[in-house]
Amino acid sequence: MAAFFCGYLSGISVLSNMKKRNGLFITFEGIDGCGKSTQAKKAFSLLKKEGYPVVLLREPGGTPVSEKIRKILLDRNLDINPEAELLLYEAARAQITAKKILPVLESNGIVICDRYYDSTIAYQGYGRKLDINFINRLNRVASYYTTPDITFVFDVNYQTSLSRRNKTPDRLEKEKQAFFNRVRKGFKELAGKRRIILLNGKKDIETLSEQVLTVVQKAVAGKKIKLAG
Ligand code: TYD
Repeated sequence: MAAFFCGYLSGISVLSNMKKRNGLFITFEGIDGCGKSTQAKKAFSLLKKEGYPVVLLREPGGTPVSEKIRKILLDRNLDINPEAELLLYEAARAQITAKKILPVLESNGIVICDRYYDSTIAYQGYGRKLDINFINRLNRVASYYTTPDITFVFDVNYQTSLSRRNKTPDRLEKEKQAFFNRVRKGFKELAGKRRIILLNGKKDIETLSEQVLTVVQKAVAGKKIKLAG
């Protein structure tokens, strides 16, 4: 009970110190090889071409500190225990959120992020079987209580995901099929949330891109994002 109230009160103090976030925050999610990065880049290029103030980021990464953490997380020669892995993802997230994401959202810009905290729920929660309530709490802290406005989840099965990977597998990609099946299930269960749009990642790039851009353009208009200028 006491812990609950401490958490509740610290949440209130964070929220009361928050600047207004009028921007638009869009995230792209799914298992490795699902095609999300291609779609994130396409959405970014279109909005940029149209003159909107937009940045494209990726997680883990996006700042000097977060990129260093990324190197550790993806190093196939390191044996990282699940709790340490979780905290490293959250540390990288706190840094990119404070340094890159919030300043753009506070100045009415658009952030497109290739993965964000739903990946932690799917990979560390469903994949590594860590406690989801605890992950949700860490996600709130590391995101400074920021929630994406729209999240696209690209759903593909393990075989499709494998067939699209051509490089030497990194530490996460080395995981077995059962791990990725759990992660995929996690993403699909998350897709029950209103902000999340589940797409069939097996569809061709252009069809998917049309679906994504229709939603994105509606959201840009809805948020009244002004052209950069
Ligand atoms: P990356 O090479 O960026 O993969 P992808 O191109 O598929 O996004 O590596 C990021 C890896 O980190 C990927 O396997 C997913 C994993 N990950 C987590 O396990 N938890 C997280 O919170 C995040 C953001 C990523």
